[in-house]
Amino acid sequence: MAQRRCKIVATLGPACDSPEHIAALISAGMDVARLNFSHGHADEHRQRAAWVREAAAEQGRHVALLGDLQGPKIRIARFADGHIHLEPGDNFRLSTSHPLDAGNQDVVGIDYPQLVEDCRAGDELLLDDGRVVLRVESVGRDEVRCQVTVGGDLSNQKGINRRGGGLSATALTPKDHADISLAAELQMEYVAVSFPRDATDMQQARKLLADNESDAWLIAKIERAEAVADDSALDGLIQASDGVMVARGDLGVEIGDAELVAIQKHIISRARKQNKLVITATQMMESMIHSPMPTRAEVSDVANATLDYTDAVMLSAETAAGDYPVDAVKAMDRICQGAEKHPSSQQSGHRLYQEFSRCDETIALSAMYASNHFPGVTAVISLTESGYTPLIMSRIRSPLRIFALSPHPHTLGRAALLRGVTGVAFNPTEMPSSEVDQFAIEALLSRELVQSGDWVILTKGDVYNSRGGTNSMRLLQVREALV
Ligand code: G6P
Ligand code: MG
Repeated sequence: MAQRRCKIVATLGPACDSPEHIAALISAGMDVARLNFSHGHADEHRQRAAWVREAAAEQGRHVALLGDLQGPKIRIARFADGHIHLEPGDNFRLSTSHPLDAGNQDVVGIDYPQLVEDCRAGDELLLDDGRVVLRVESVGRDEVRCQVTVGGDLSNQKGINRRGGGLSATALTPKDHADISLAAELQMEYVAVSFPRDATDMQQARKLLADNESDAWLIAKIERAEAVADDSALDGLIQASDGVMVARGDLGVEIGDAELVAIQKHIISRARKQNKLVITATQMMESMIHSPMPTRAEVSDVANATLDYTDAVMLSAETAAGDYPVDAVKAMDRICQGAEKHPSSQQSGHRLYQEFSRCDETIALSAMYASNHFPGVTAVISLTESGYTPLIMSRIRSPLRIFALSPHPHTLGRAALLRGVTGVAFNPTEMPSSEVDQFAIEALLSRELVQSGDWVILTKGDVYNSRGGTNSMRLLQVREALV
């Protein structure tokens, strides 16, 4: 597991709700625990976060917490009998005035008054991730009248998307505001924003985090058709965020499954080129909700995302509500490692002809170029305040491990999501400045991460413990301590 570069995000939920279960997920390879704010109460999240922190400390691992905001997912209300069954050709209405718990065979309530403004005759509405499809026939003052084109069971509070996107709800709801302060309280390293439309949604989330004294890194979930309609929309979201998530569930519903794979590849490469991290999510090991083994198609999906150099692959219901949460993490761990043996995972042709824009970026990328080309090098060591320098390094393909050395637990947690990066606790201000490099090497030697005779590359700045200042790289040979 120590050698795996692609990271594993696992969603916590009822299927792994004890300290022992969470410890087992961590030892199986979970690098980032996702707390899904669409489900569960604040106290459940507090409890799970505490279990993660405790188990990680016990195992000497740095595991990040990622809070995933619910966002403005539009949902139908409830049925008097809990569910109905629709046949193709049936007429069915979505009503903003119908009582919210009295849906029936003809009509169901919806708590989203703008629906009537967002919809036109001829639109296609996809319910429950596209399992039921309605065609809009006409729009009234307080209802949308539809005909069923794909029938099926429909139960309480299923989500609605419009084919092609365009439902206009704002990204951050009052519940998201409350969950942002919870994320800050729990010192989460990452917060993911659902359904952001553009950079302003991300900026607003960042401001709310700052108001709550959190500097969590922000992930934009790419899940609206508008977000991938052209490169300027996508780049705007990428630039305003620290990373993105290819949120294939809702995105697939809005743009259709045929486009999804090409768009996934595009998002991964576009994010990396802009020095941002990227998570690939949804249904990666779906069959493992009920089966101890993944299908060959799932194996191939995880392996291909790994080969495309995603920072992390994600598990949702597989770990939150499935029958085999630990096996799902183990399977991902194994498949990622298998894929990483392929030469294309290790050689970089990236940015050879591109200019760099910052001093620390130049050092970080040069360090990777040097380490990939000098055969004796076994590790790259980056002294980092915020995690930024190792983030840049890990945009480059390499077979070598990158060690993020920092005194800050929050930064070490962040590093858990970065591909090929391992956090190591290290405080340069506690040592004479002329001996920092040797102490850094000894921190790795004592953990048997490097050996006497290896070469390492070490980056740092003139001043210790201040961000953005990386301006030097040294090529050092590992020697046992002389004392
Ligand atoms: C640590 C080192 C500094 C270095 C900085 C880079 O604080 O002591 O010498 O400049 O990390 O931090 P950054 O957050 O930019 O990766
Ligand atoms: Mg989603």
